[in-house]
Amino acid sequence: MATTLTDKEAMSLAIKIAKQGVGRVSPNPFVGCVVLSKNGTLLSSGYHEIYGGPHAEINALNNLNEEALKEARVFITLEPCSHYGKTPPCAKRLAELPIQEVIYGLLDPNPLVSGKGIELLQCAGKKVTQFFGRNEELEELCEVFLLNQRKNQVFVSLKVATSLDGMMGLKSGESKWLTGEASRNHAHYLRATHDAVLVGVNTILLDNPSLNIRNPQFVNKTNIVVILDPNGKCISRLVNLNVTKTHTASELFIFTQEKSVIKSDYCQVFAAPLIDEKNFDLNFILQILWDKNIRSVLVEGGAYTLSEFLNQNKAHRLYQFLAPQLIGGNNGLNWSSQFTVNKLQDRITLTQIKISNFDQDLLISGLIQNPQIPKERFVAEESSSTSKPTLKFYRSQNGWIFGICEGLGESFDLPPLLIRFFWVLSFFLYGLGLGIYLALAVSLPRKDKIEKAFEKQFLGVCVLLSNKMSLEIGVIRFLTVLLALTTGGFAILAYIILYFSLEKNNC
Ligand SMILES: NC(=O)c1ccc[n+]([C@@H]2O[C@H](COP(=O)([O-])OP(=O)(O)OC[C@H]3O[C@@H](n4cnc5c(N)ncnc54)[C@H](OP(=O)(O)O)[C@@H]3O)[C@@H](O)[C@H]2O)c1
Repeated sequence: MATTLTDKEAMSLAIKIAKQGVGRVSPNPFVGCVVLSKNGTLLSSGYHEIYGGPHAEINALNNLNEEALKEARVFITLEPCSHYGKTPPCAKRLAELPIQEVIYGLLDPNPLVSGKGIELLQCAGKKVTQFFGRNEELEELCEVFLLNQRKNQVFVSLKVATSLDGMMGLKSGESKWLTGEASRNHAHYLRATHDAVLVGVNTILLDNPSLNIRNPQFVNKTNIVVILDPNGKCISRLVNLNVTKTHTASELFIFTQEKSVIKSDYCQVFAAPLIDEKNFDLNFILQILWDKNIRSVLVEGGAYTLSEFLNQNKAHRLYQFLAPQLIGGNNGLNWSSQFTVNKLQDRITLTQIKISNFDQDLLISGLIQNPQIPKERFVAEESSSTSKPTLKFYRSQNGWIFGICEGLGESFDLPPLLIRFFWVLSFFLYGLGLGIYLALAVSLPRKDKIEKAFEKQFLGVCVLLSNKMSLEIGVIRFLTVLLALTTGGFAILAYIILYFSLEKNNC
């Protein structure tokens, strides 16, 4: 039996299926697409499956013929692309189909393409609507891509497993395992959602972890491992460590101080500067990772490393698994022990919290809001170059000049129709003003005294020169005519200049 979906259900489904691209599409975003018939029946769905492969829209539309698509409504989590990249523009493909409406979630944050997919569809006469109501979910789905595009920054998530009192193990180094198998399985899923995993050298030496992805959903997926080792403590011991059994030299990055750099067959070694006597400049390290095409990093510990990401304001999201246990602070290793807040008002809070269960454990995740960081650093409130409101004008083939207001918080587009409406309204008002003036000029009784002058004048303009009319009437007439002529003249002139100077939209 055919499934019928509401708009909300269709977008929820698009978000859900988009997540099937996890671990396979970076640096592209996760995108899902759902196609409904005009009666709301589910016709098809698709998602962006693999980097370089077809986009979600194409995967959803591939099995549908034009007959089935008549007046269909297409739901997409992200604005359809309008440029030729690894695949042709999806907006162009949608524009050619007999669909009725495209409902998109987020505007493409890439300033080069933002809004252009919408324009292309609108020019083709398609109704284009931004979907409201699942914004937090949509932003979370695309959070890495949004930050990458807006700020050219690596998205950093912190992941930690602790007891209820915040201990990640004992100070002695004993820490395995606080959480259950279901949590650990999800932790491997989180590894797959990020391009790299990062740990401090003590975790490598004490726990000897493999740090690969061991989740049945991602059997052949490899990942990059980054180790912070300022004093080169692990470089010479790599041969005995598990991480070199699961990762090739090209997948293992070790950052150390200039003086500790040594050549190794088991990893790539990078020199990084310190910001004080002990700590790396994390900005520098993240920039190197960015240059290596790493767009997201999962910091897995230990306490020192996690704390330093908080101290240097470099973390965007926290995943904290909570095991129903108590360890106590005397011997316990507090996961944020090195993170310092001097005033309570400087404490970090989490927003857009999600809580889920993994058997006995809880997972709390949320966006990290550090009051010491200017608000615009955070994804949810990111103000991008595209979100600065700008009104852009175009002319279409039928001669209409129309505009689109871009970037009002990524949630509002001024439809071309509205611009057209104001354009027509201004001409209408001008015509009305001129009409009223002419009607008055014709119907009002002439004053004998000025009869002669009236004949000489051109709609009242020359009356001041004639010297025979009262000054007040002359000034009023003069100003009225001047206003009517200049506004009308300007409107016509502006239209002509705009028409010839504006980019012709290829619709
Ligand atoms: N429960 C969990 O989720 C979990 C996860 C991971 C680890 N752990 C546990 O955590 C414990 C290790 O934690 P830890 O805090 O002692 O060590 P760690 O964070 O693993 O490593 C700390 C060391 O790494 C280097 N390092 C880290 N960040 C640095 C930075 N920003 N700048 C410069 N150097 C940096 C320093 O090396 P130098 O000492 O050479 O200066 C530092 O002392 C282990 O017992 C492990 O089992 C638990």
